[in-house]
Amino acid sequence: MAHEHHHHGHGHGRHHGHEHGDGYDLTEMLLLDAEVTATHLAAFTGRIAELAGEAAVRRVVDLGSGTGTGAFALLRRFPGAVVTAIDTDEGMLRHLTESAARHGVADRVRPLHADAGGGLPETGEADLVWASSSMHHMSDPDRVLADIHAVLRPGGLLAMIEMESMPRFLPDDIGIGAPGLEARCHALADAAKAEHLPHMGSDWPARLRAAGFTVLDSRDLVVDLAPPLPAPAVRYAVATLKRFRAAVAERLSAEDRETLDTLLAKDEHVLRHLPGLSVHSTRSAWIATPA
Ligand SMILES: C[S@@+](CC[C@H](N)C(=O)[O-])C[C@H]1O[C@@H](n2cnc3c(N)ncnc32)[C@H](O)[C@@H]1O
Repeated sequence: MAHEHHHHGHGHGRHHGHEHGDGYDLTEMLLLDAEVTATHLAAFTGRIAELAGEAAVRRVVDLGSGTGTGAFALLRRFPGAVVTAIDTDEGMLRHLTESAARHGVADRVRPLHADAGGGLPETGEADLVWASSSMHHMSDPDRVLADIHAVLRPGGLLAMIEMESMPRFLPDDIGIGAPGLEARCHALADAAKAEHLPHMGSDWPARLRAAGFTVLDSRDLVVDLAPPLPAPAVRYAVATLKRFRAAVAERLSAEDRETLDTLLAKDEHVLRHLPGLSVHSTRSAWIATPA
């Protein structure tokens, strides 16, 4: 996203330390994701504005806000809005608050450190609830959807985005090692996710309807970037492959591990210059209203 551009040169995302056990920096991944998806998010928030019609969108709740990708897109789209950004991760909220201050919107962001899965904290009535790549983290998403239903004003909107798997960057045959390396990394990562994130890839429209929502808009946000990639997309590829190196390498074959190491050696020189490096990512998005 344009407003985050200047962070990357000096690795700002790392300063607030968000190293996960598997050794990748989620803050950095979210900032890169924001840059790669900015135009798609702008189109999606445009659709929210259309569906909101004449009704003002002022009170916004961002569930699992992370670094604020959604919050900032919504602040831009709805000039009268104030966003309550809820996250369990204080480092994320600190990052979001500092970004808001730098961009002169500190008075329009209310960080709230809370577990949205344990009953929504007291936010007051909302015109719009936003939940991007966060619902599958909740231990009981149906309860959270019911809470959102209760907090929305009549005619209010819920905008939800879910991604089924990480973006893909590598051609099937990269000319090193056996073809299909990235697919094998994904399969291992997906198996791990199925274990600790059982709600990932749920039938969300069905769950929305069961919670008493009418789905007004349903779309795929497709990011397809052909080579040569812009710099943030290359960094996104590097961050993702490093994540695989940390998280799944032990379960890969020795040959695949070696290929990953070759790609990532010497400041990821081979990966950064790989012909055919591209981005393919699909996420599903819905806009719903209390029926
Ligand atoms: C994949 S990130 C997505 C962040 C942001 N919405 C975006 O689209 O870039 C998921 C975020 O949800 C937060 N989260 C996970 N479980 C949560 C919970 N139970 N309550 C509030 N936040 C939660 C995480 O800390 C993380 O910041």
